[in-house]
Amino acid sequence: MVRRILGVTLIYMMIFGQSAAEQGINQAVKQVEDAIKLTPDVDNGREVYLLCAVCHLPEGWGTEDGYYPQLAGQHFTVIIKQLADILARNRDTPTMFPFTLLENLQPQAFADVAAYLANLPMTRNNGLGLGADLEHGKRLYDDNCVDCHGINGEGNEEDYMPLIQGQHYNYLVRQFEWIRKGKRRNADKEMVEQIQGFTDRDISAIMDYTSRLKPPAGRLAAPGWRNPDFPEFIR
Ligand code: HEC
Ligand code: HEC
Repeated sequence: MVRRILGVTLIYMMIFGQSAAEQGINQAVKQVEDAIKLTPDVDNGREVYLLCAVCHLPEGWGTEDGYYPQLAGQHFTVIIKQLADILARNRDTPTMFPFTLLENLQPQAFADVAAYLANLPMTRNNGLGLGADLEHGKRLYDDNCVDCHGINGEGNEEDYMPLIQGQHYNYLVRQFEWIRKGKRRNADKEMVEQIQGFTDRDISAIMDYTSRLKPPAGRLAAPGWRNPDFPEFIR
């Protein structure tokens, strides 16, 4: 009897139900759609960011070792999508802690903090690779990545394509691996397919090259710049 009920429930779930992964993706898609339409309030974005600065640092530059990514200068749409995906558990971040902190964020706060971050100047000192295999990296980048991420790693706001220029090398390598292995369940399917054949050497070479793609001079922070919005922050 119990078995029959279980069986019927299972069949019902297979026909009508959604898997947890599908639910996560649908939730994120809805939140992104909602947030994109809102008018961002940058002042509130700065307040929301106080919470994030603990890890991503007041300048939004993350850490050179790539544990925390640089968020400054990332496209508005991309930040919103990644936040929604992290909240919906479509991305496994290394600790559970950010999830709990992000739990109360609503689409308006996504839009506000994304607008704040997109306008912050970027670091001049991002983490780089060893610099030993850059020609190989450039060739692979030009052949495989330009169509989506742009010739200079600038990404594309409208299509949710991340800006990857000037990002920390270790972060790029980690995300690339996670996208390749399907650990980032929010990734671009075409990209996932395209990068299956890369070797470890290819990956370090491409990412080394990418980490050295420079943002335009106007997007970089002046030398020694500290974010005046957080004067009280202890480093
Ligand atoms: C406890 C530390 C912590 C806090 C607090 C935190 N983050 Fe993060 N965040 C991380 C880590 C670690 C990653 C990288 C996760 C990974 O490797 O997939 C990350 C990734 C991200 C990404 C994805 C970046 C990309 O390029 O894909 C965004 C966007 C982001 N965080 C925004 C925020 C915002 C906005 C807040 C505040 C509301 C916040 N984070 C608070 C640790 C934190
Ligand atoms: C068909 C388009 C496409 C191609 C080709 C492509 N990407 Fe991507 N890539 C994307 C999209 C879209 C995302 C964001 C996925 C998401 O929303 O999580 C992404 C994400 C990334 C990320 C994570 C960025 C972050 O901040 O979290 C890295 C790193 C990356 N791509 C590197 C590459 C490299 C290197 C290549 C070439 C070998 C490449 N991609 C080829 C579309 C593409």
